[in-house]
Amino acid sequence: MSEVRTLVIDGHDVAATADQTVLSAARENGIHIPTLCHLQGLSDIGACRLCMVELEGSPRLVASCVTRVEEGMRVTTVSERLNAYRRRVVEMFFLERNHVCAVCVANGSCELQGAARDLGLDHFELAPLHPEVAVDATHERFVLDQNRCILCSRCVRVCAEVEGAHTWDIQGRGADARLVSDLGTPWGSSTTCTSCGKCVQVCPTGALFEKGRSVAEPKARRPYLPYLVDHSRA
Ligand code: SF4
Ligand code: FES
Repeated sequence: MSEVRTLVIDGHDVAATADQTVLSAARENGIHIPTLCHLQGLSDIGACRLCMVELEGSPRLVASCVTRVEEGMRVTTVSERLNAYRRRVVEMFFLERNHVCAVCVANGSCELQGAARDLGLDHFELAPLHPEVAVDATHERFVLDQNRCILCSRCVRVCAEVEGAHTWDIQGRGADARLVSDLGTPWGSSTTCTSCGKCVQVCPTGALFEKGRSVAEPKARRPYLPYLVDHSRA
């Protein structure tokens, strides 16, 4: 049994076990911290940086999804500094690829779009990169549209950790990083993909979707996500 830690989050006394993250402790106590790469049931990798919080005594912001609770910790999850940081994070996701919501299958159910709305991001201050990125429609049922990918790696983790196929990886670094199947083989030629569709279910944007879906048609099945990971491990 893990030891109990007591900490303060946004002025509230919170009890958590020593193996919990700040994000998990906050959510258990009804305190909302925005996330994109986190998904309950998958390992946390601290990729998106949206869940950053302030820690008393630390000049740096920390990612709450990969920070363990500590005794006496004092955490702030809402401040102007955090809002500005999170708005910039979300803005960078939009600018790094080609997110044209009006013609995206995920319009209305996209978590990136939702984060932008919640943060009041109504314009961009920096110029978009408009990279040329590929669409892989070689799979008989699904499509990967790299234009919408934010490299959160949820698909990589659900495929490796839950389905056990490990079809997906992220290849390259920085602006050149790309999601690849079977180390660069077109998805339709993948020998590891089981066509289970878990990656499509967990993708927060319109980067992975079922063929035949039109703009704004698929609705995210968010309550399905914890079900997916819990029952896959049962
Ligand atoms: Fe994340 Fe979707 Fe890109 Fe996979 S395809 S890394 S789930 S945004
Ligand atoms: Fe913590 Fe993405 S949710 S870094």
